[in-house]
Amino acid sequence: MIYEANEENITKAATLIRNGDVVAFPTETVYGLGANAFNAEAVQKIFTIKERPNFNPLIVHLTNVEQIESISSYKENDRLIKLLQKVQHFWPGPLSVILPRKENIPTVVTGGLDTVAIRIPSHPIARALINKCGYPIAAPSANKFTHISPTKAEHVEKSLGKDIFILDGGSTTVGLESTVITLVTNPPQLLRPGFVTFESLKLALGEIEHGAKTSDHPASPGMIKRHYAPNTPLYFLDKVDLNSIPKNSALISFGERELNDITKFSEVIYLSKNGNLEEVCANLFSSLYKLDNKGYEMILIDSCSEDGLGLAIMDRISRAAEN
Ligand code: TXA
Ligand code: MG
Repeated sequence: MIYEANEENITKAATLIRNGDVVAFPTETVYGLGANAFNAEAVQKIFTIKERPNFNPLIVHLTNVEQIESISSYKENDRLIKLLQKVQHFWPGPLSVILPRKENIPTVVTGGLDTVAIRIPSHPIARALINKCGYPIAAPSANKFTHISPTKAEHVEKSLGKDIFILDGGSTTVGLESTVITLVTNPPQLLRPGFVTFESLKLALGEIEHGAKTSDHPASPGMIKRHYAPNTPLYFLDKVDLNSIPKNSALISFGERELNDITKFSEVIYLSKNGNLEEVCANLFSSLYKLDNKGYEMILIDSCSEDGLGLAIMDRISRAAEN
C-alpha cells in the first residue's frame, strides 16, 4: 500500500524496519526496498520479494560519513582514507562507494564478497527513515529483478504488489540509480555510471578506470547485460529502418521534433523540451513505465553521445533495448 510520507507514517515505516520487515521508500535516485542491514533474515526478505539472485549484493544507506567506520574497516588503510576524502563532497547524493566490509555486516548483504557498497542519500524522507530506525538500511531498487527501477510510488506497487508498505515521496529527482565506484581496486573503478559522472570523479580522484562493462561475471554483480527491461521491445531509433516500423509504435524523444517526424508514431513522449540530459534522466524510466503494457508493438528511443551524463543514459537504454 502507498502511504503519504508524513511523520506518523515515517515512524511506522521505521518501526517495521526495526521489527525485521521491509519498506519501500523514496531516494533522490530511485525508490529503494529497505531492511535493517544488520538483520540477515530481514535482508533475505528483500531477495525473495525481488526474486533477485543472492550473489547480487545490496547498497547500505547511511546518513553521514562518520557512520561508515561502523560497517567498513577502511580506516585501517591510509590509501582508502585519502580516496574517500576526495569523493565525500558528492555526499549526501547519488554516489555509492565500495569499501572493505566489517564482519558485522551479514554476508547476505554483500553477496558473499568481502566488500560493502555504501551510499549517503540526500532525500529528506530517506534520511528521516534511516535516522528514525537507528540502523543502516540495506536497499536495492524497489522493483522485480531485471525490471525497470521505480521513480514513483505507483511504479513500486505495480512491480512488487500491494502488500509492500510504500512511503510516497512523489517523483524522484535524479531518476537513475546511483553511480557505483570501487575504491578497493588500485586505481579505483567506475562500476555503474550515474548522475555523478566519470569526468567529475576523475577530477576528484585523479585516477579512475572504467570497470568491465558487461560479462557473465562482472566486477559489479548487478551489471548483467539485460536489465531495466520493459516488456515491449525497445530499439534505438537510429538503428532501425524507418520504413519498417510497425504502425502501432511509440517514440521516446529526448527533445521536441518537427510534426513531420512524428506522424509515424501512435504516441510520442518528450523527455525534455530541448534535450537537456538531466531532464532526460529524470523522465526516462517513468516514460518506459508509461508506454509499457499499452499494447504497442515497438518502442523507439533517441540516443546521445556517451559524455558526461550521456554515459549513464546510454548504459541504461542499451541494457533495456533489444540487441
Ligand atoms: O540509486 C541507487 O543506488 C538505488 C537506491 C535505492 O539507493 N539502489 C540501487 O540498488 O540501485 P541495486 O541493488 O539495484 O544496485 C546495486 C548495485 C548492483 O549493481 C550491485 O551489484 C552493486 O551495486 N554492488 C553492491 N555491492 C557491491 C559490492 N560489494 N561490490 C561490487 N558491486 C556491488
Ligand atoms: Mg536495481
